[in-house]
Amino acid sequence: MTCRTRIGSGIYAELDGTPDAAREARTLVSALLGDGHPSAHDAALIVSELVSNAITHSRSGQPGGTVLVAIEAAAQPGEVRIEVRDAGGPRAPVLTAADPGSEHGRGLAIISALAAEWASETSQAGRATWCRLSTGRGGNVTAARVPDREAG
Ligand SMILES: Nc1ncnc2c1ncn2[C@@H]1O[C@H](COP(=O)(O)OP(=O)(O)OP(=O)(O)O)[C@@H](O)[C@H]1O
Ligand SMILES: [Mg+2]
Repeated sequence: MTCRTRIGSGIYAELDGTPDAAREARTLVSALLGDGHPSAHDAALIVSELVSNAITHSRSGQPGGTVLVAIEAAAQPGEVRIEVRDAGGPRAPVLTAADPGSEHGRGLAIISALAAEWASETSQAGRATWCRLSTGRGGNVTAARVPDREAG
């Protein structure tokens, strides 16, 4: 990890653009949210996919490349914002319908299913892909419904 800063309810890091970066990004989520946070699991999965994409599909994965990661916990329980900035390149994030036999093409579909919203923005500095997690969407909804089913 090149550098890491914690400010209030956010954690910000510049990671070396190597395969270790996805694991390091999950460590940041764990350090900020703790295991008991309602969005901790989803946030770890999402940051992992976004950092992997930055390294696999952008110039961040080239020698000397880095990835910027920002994770911010909002005051509302379960609300988390994740942003990953990469060094850009000829390709852009595209939500695809993965071929059932393919091992790839699922990362953004997972993010789209779990996040309340997500987007990608391109600038001269590269590309920022961000998402917002809320307990009102995705895997958290499923978890919240289990007691209802048991009661009914
Ligand atoms: N940060 C990025 N920069 C440039 N292109 C990207 C970026 N993230 C995703 N893409 C493009 O969007 C496509 C879909 O991304 P997605 O994460 O869904 O699948 P994948 O990375 O190909 O496979 P998987 O995540 O399942 O291993 C990628 O194949 C790539 O072309
Ligand atoms: Mg991917």
